[in-house]
Amino acid sequence: MTQRTKRFDFVVVANRLPVDRVTGEDGKPGWKRSPGGLVSGLEPVMHTQDGAWIGWGGSTDEKIAPFDLDEMRLVPVELSAAEFEQYYEGFANASLWPLYHDVIAPPEFHRAWWDAYVRVNQRFAKAAAATAADKAVVWVHDYQLQLVPAMLRDLRPDVKIGFFNHIPFPPYEIFAQLPWRRRILEGLLGADLIGFQRPYDTANFLRAVRRKIGTTARHGMVKVPGTDGGEGRIAKAQSFPISIDSQSLAELAADPDVQRRAAEIRTELGDPRVLMLGVDRMDYTKGIRHRLKAFGELMDDGDLTVPDVTLVQIATPSRERLEYYKQIRTDVELAVGRINGEHGELGAAAVHYMHHSYPRREMVAFYLAADVMLVTALRDGMNLVAKEYVATRLDNTGALVLSEFTGAADELRQAILVNPHDIIDLKQSILRAVNIEPREASRRMRSLRRRVSEDDVKHWSHRFLSTLAHVREHP
Ligand code: G6P
Repeated sequence: MTQRTKRFDFVVVANRLPVDRVTGEDGKPGWKRSPGGLVSGLEPVMHTQDGAWIGWGGSTDEKIAPFDLDEMRLVPVELSAAEFEQYYEGFANASLWPLYHDVIAPPEFHRAWWDAYVRVNQRFAKAAAATAADKAVVWVHDYQLQLVPAMLRDLRPDVKIGFFNHIPFPPYEIFAQLPWRRRILEGLLGADLIGFQRPYDTANFLRAVRRKIGTTARHGMVKVPGTDGGEGRIAKAQSFPISIDSQSLAELAADPDVQRRAAEIRTELGDPRVLMLGVDRMDYTKGIRHRLKAFGELMDDGDLTVPDVTLVQIATPSRERLEYYKQIRTDVELAVGRINGEHGELGAAAVHYMHHSYPRREMVAFYLAADVMLVTALRDGMNLVAKEYVATRLDNTGALVLSEFTGAADELRQAILVNPHDIIDLKQSILRAVNIEPREASRRMRSLRRRVSEDDVKHWSHRFLSTLAHVREHP
């Protein structure tokens, strides 16, 4: 078969391809695999089966031909500049993202954005239909592509379709605001298996299905009515909490060079007694403002002092043209400036703030250097940073302050759990983490680490795909 017509038994469909553009040593542009967790989880499946990944290449108005990288076929989907604005920035990230995250920012609904969402979802569905072999398994990912399952089923009734939502699924009372709520549910119900992070998300979805589609759903099995009175089918909804590539993180954490770098980071920061760390995308859902508010007050109260304690806040740039993202960046930078202005000393800042990303090795060195990790999201589907910190603490030291409103909090019960809206609770939890007895820290971290290392992202993809393989046989 020629490259062009080759079809694949396993097809992943996600908004982004798992690659970054790079310039090679010869000065020519090329691609490098991005270090994302999803691609590590899918790698074993991609390699044992013939795997392809369909996604957007990250630029606009550029046609890129399918290519192979690391034994994967990558199939770029093109977006125009207008579609980037209306589908990606608009409907995905200014309508769905805030709606699905407890309306922390007000979602906006525009018919032109919806039209672009439908058009782009159709393009992804067509690409999947053209790439999948007879009876292939197609796994669609995340809120950007919720219409793809039903669109693909129309085009290719022979393929098995899984969908996984990486972000929360909101309670019905919030979901019901969406003018196209029924269309979204019908889109998702095109899948044989619809996966969510937490049982709570699955329950929210099933409730929305009962209310809007009016069909019965028992034990996660939804009877999907057939079109034009035709025979119906069964779609299953279930939770599959995602994890990380624990083993490769633990290997990096054991690397003497990375450990040396961690020691160097502490020295560069002036050897504080306590190093606290926050690592997030710059997003209003992450609770960075709340974290800084609590940290600043603890400094005002004299409970934390410079240079004894310092906070490193890494906030990687994200969706930067959107209004609420500009706003959160301004708020964070004002708060950092205020805290440093009031409490910093020459050569000893209270907060070290970085608005850029770091390579994976450097991130692990930061995790190793940090005594206290602060994860204070106001709402988060899972929060992989919390799991990554735990996976690197090979000597069972360190304390994790973790928001109750993350999916990770369902599993990481031995963290110091906190309600980030409650600034008093947040301040007390930070102090608890700073002053934790080494024996208690070690007991908690050991149990957290067991949890994270037993359940890595490869198990997650295996669990999802084996459940998908059995959905139709045993409805
Ligand atoms: C979240 C979403 C992903 C998304 C990522 C980065 O984790 O669940 O689907 O890819 O954020 O956001 P971006 O808009 O840059 O793709």
